[in-house]
Amino acid sequence: MNNERNFTGMNRRQFLQTGASCAASAMFLSLGRTVAWAAPTTSNLVPFATLNNGVQMPLLGLGTMTLKGDIGMRSVAEAIALGYRLIDTAMIYGTETTVAASIKQSGIKREELFITSKLWKSDMGYESAKKGFQTSLDKLGTDYLDLYLIHRPAGDIKGAWKAMEELYHAGKIKAIGVSNFKPAQLADLIANSEVKPAIHQIETHAFFQESTSLESLKQLGIQMEAWAPLAEGRHGLFTNTTLTTIGKKYNKTVAQVCLRWHFQRGIIAIPRSKQQAHLAENINIYDFSLDDSDLAAIATLDLNTTQFPEWS
Ligand SMILES: NC(=O)c1ccc[n+]([C@@H]2O[C@H](COP(=O)([O-])OP(=O)(O)OC[C@H]3O[C@@H](n4cnc5c(N)ncnc54)[C@H](OP(=O)(O)O)[C@@H]3O)[C@@H](O)[C@H]2O)c1
Repeated sequence: MNNERNFTGMNRRQFLQTGASCAASAMFLSLGRTVAWAAPTTSNLVPFATLNNGVQMPLLGLGTMTLKGDIGMRSVAEAIALGYRLIDTAMIYGTETTVAASIKQSGIKREELFITSKLWKSDMGYESAKKGFQTSLDKLGTDYLDLYLIHRPAGDIKGAWKAMEELYHAGKIKAIGVSNFKPAQLADLIANSEVKPAIHQIETHAFFQESTSLESLKQLGIQMEAWAPLAEGRHGLFTNTTLTTIGKKYNKTVAQVCLRWHFQRGIIAIPRSKQQAHLAENINIYDFSLDDSDLAAIATLDLNTTQFPEWS
């Protein structure tokens, strides 16, 4: 990925257009309208990262963990209408069918979306991975995925990766990657495989900044993606004094400050929300910039440890 190129490569006109479009979306929302306007045929709101195989991936998307049923349908539809194009799901979330139904109802063309799903631990190994992938594909009602990740390292990782490499070469997956790998597990996979992961999706937020991982992934040419980019609000994130003070400076919320921070670090973020106002807020981050003093203040918040010990 070439974050620098994408972050600094946006010219001033594109940058201002992006901000203006977001502001327009927010205006509609502040008037209390539901999703009544047509989804744009293409979304120019969110800048892209270029992955190590040339695939372009939006730097912001919608996380769908827990967004099932009617709430999930509505949230995905509202996100698409607001300009989100990256949707992150996984077999284990049980949200693939909801995502599929919502996309179908939105009428948006498949090729305008960037859909990620993930292979769960129970499907590791060559044959199981192929079956697991096909099940996800069927549930999502599509014939290819933009990104498929090994959700957690477990079992026969190499067999699963071989299956994913074959699916990648067959054009069934545009990019393959991993999630929650330790550095040694990632190094082992890279040393023993043909296709290098394009993405590493890991827990990253203001309280667990993963700066060492960010540097080493850059060196490896692997794009970092943040799960729980808002820490699910844990550790008092939304009322944190440092983040609130920075937000006041730019007339932005804590969520916007955090998502802008991910963007300026060149990290893809996939915040989840079931609230239309939050969805609009979270994509409206391209009309301001955190300065060096803001970045230094946020750096002091790092606790350098997971806020999700239950998943470690
Ligand atoms: N690879 C992995 O192992 C892994 C693990 C965890 C998550 N993920 C992925 O990452 C995605 C994001 O992580 P996450 O869902 O755990 O947490 P998150 O996105 O950090 O936080 C979601 C929480 O933040 C709230 N929120 C969102 N926008 C807000 C705003 N503008 N103002 C105030 N509150 C706001 C949401 O509440 P409202 O709904 O009320 O807005 C929700 O409670 C997941 O959905 C999933 O797709 C991957």
